[in-house]
Amino acid sequence: MNAPLQNDSFLRACLRQPTDHTPVWLMRQAGRYLPEYKATRVQAGNSFMGLATNPQYATEVTLQPLDRFALDAAILFSDILTVPDAMGLGLSFGAGEGPRFAHPVRNEADVAKLAIPDMDKLRYVFDAVSSIRKALVTTNSQGQQVSRVPLIGFTGSPWTLACYMVEGAGSDDYRLVKTMLYSRPDLMHRILAVTADTVALYLNAQIEAGAQAVMIFDSWGGVLEHRAFETFSLAYTRRVLSQLKREHQGQRVPCIVFTKGGGLWLEQIAATGADVVGLDWTCDLGQARQRVDDAVALQGNFDPMALFATPDAVAAEARAVLDSFGKHRRADGRHGGHVFNLGHGINQHTPIENVQALVETVHAHSRHIRQQG
Ligand code: CP3
Repeated sequence: MNAPLQNDSFLRACLRQPTDHTPVWLMRQAGRYLPEYKATRVQAGNSFMGLATNPQYATEVTLQPLDRFALDAAILFSDILTVPDAMGLGLSFGAGEGPRFAHPVRNEADVAKLAIPDMDKLRYVFDAVSSIRKALVTTNSQGQQVSRVPLIGFTGSPWTLACYMVEGAGSDDYRLVKTMLYSRPDLMHRILAVTADTVALYLNAQIEAGAQAVMIFDSWGGVLEHRAFETFSLAYTRRVLSQLKREHQGQRVPCIVFTKGGGLWLEQIAATGADVVGLDWTCDLGQARQRVDDAVALQGNFDPMALFATPDAVAAEARAVLDSFGKHRRADGRHGGHVFNLGHGINQHTPIENVQALVETVHAHSRHIRQQG
C-alpha cells in the first residue's frame, strides 16, 4: 500500500518543487477514445455506472491509459454525479444521452429533504481508490516494490453539482438553476451548504482510502455572473477546502481547483488555499503565472480540439503551451509549478496517435527547456 513513488513529478509540480520534466495527465484520460475502454464497458453490461460501481472494472479502466502512454498521474475512474446519486436523486445514463436524475431538486420541499448521505453509499468509490493504489504497485529494476505514479481523487464543486441537481440533466442555458439562484437564494444556499459538507466528507474518505491528490471540478463556475461566482461557487469551494485533510501519512495532499471559464477570477481562485489552479485554453499561462506570482501551481491548458490536427501540429501546440509557462525556476530562486493537461476533458473521437505525440512532446520539450538552464 505504501510503496514509494517511482515517479513523483506530478506531486512535486503541484507543490512547486523542481522536476526534470513537466508532468502530464489528461482530464478524462480513461474513456471512449480508447478501444480497450469500450471493450471493458461492454463487459460491464454496456453501462458507465456498471464500470464505475465495480472496483475491479474501475481499476482496470483507470490503468488503461497508463499502459499506453507515459502519463505522470492516474485519476480515479468515477464520476462527479455519484454524490447527488448517493443523496437519493436517482442517477441514470441513457443510451447516447448524458446523465439524468429521476428526482431533481426544484422546490422548497425537495430542498428540505436534502441531507448529507451515509458515506457507506459511496463505499464502491473508496474501494476503487484502494484497489487502484494496489494495482499501481510494481517491481522496479532493483527488485523494489514501487508505486508507478500518484493517484488523483476528485469531486464536483458544490455549484457544479447543484447545477445538475436542479436542472436534472445537462443544460445549455442553466435556466432552472439560475431561476432558483435569483428568486430563492435561500434555497440555493441550502443546497450548496449540504453539498459542500458532503463533498468534504467524500474527498476526505478518498484521501483515507489512498488518493494522493484531489481535484475539485467547477465545470460550470464560468456560467455565473461575476458577483454570483463569488457568492454561489467560490464561497462553497472554500467551505470544502476548509474541511479538507491536507496531509495524510506525513505527505501533503495537493488540492487542484479547476473552474472552466474562470480565467477572469484567477486571483480569487488562487486565494482559496488551493495548491494548484486548473485553467482552460482561454488563458495565457505566462500571464496567469504573473497574476498569481507563482503562489500556486498551474494546470492546463491545451485545447482538446487541437488533438484533431496532425501529430506535428499537436507537437507544435504542446511546445507553445510549455513555452508560454516559461522556465519554472525564477530569477529570485523560487519555482513555479506546471502540470500539463488539457483545458477540458478529452473528446471521445480523439485519434490515439495524437495523444501519444502530445505526451512524448511534453516530456521531451520540457526536458529541453530545463537543459537550457
Ligand atoms: O478523468 C478521468 O478519466 C476520470 C473519470 C471522470 C469521468 N467523469 C468519467 C466519465 C471524471 C473526472 C469525470 C468528471 C465529470 N463528470 C465532470 C467534470 C469534468 C468535466 O468534464 O467538466 C462532469 C461535468 C461530469 C458529468 C458527466 N459524466 C457527463 C456530462 C457525462 C456524459 C458526457 C459524455 O462524455 O458522455 C458523464 C459520463 C462520463 N463520465 C463518461 C466518462 C468516461 C462517458 C461515459 C461512457 O462511457 O458512456
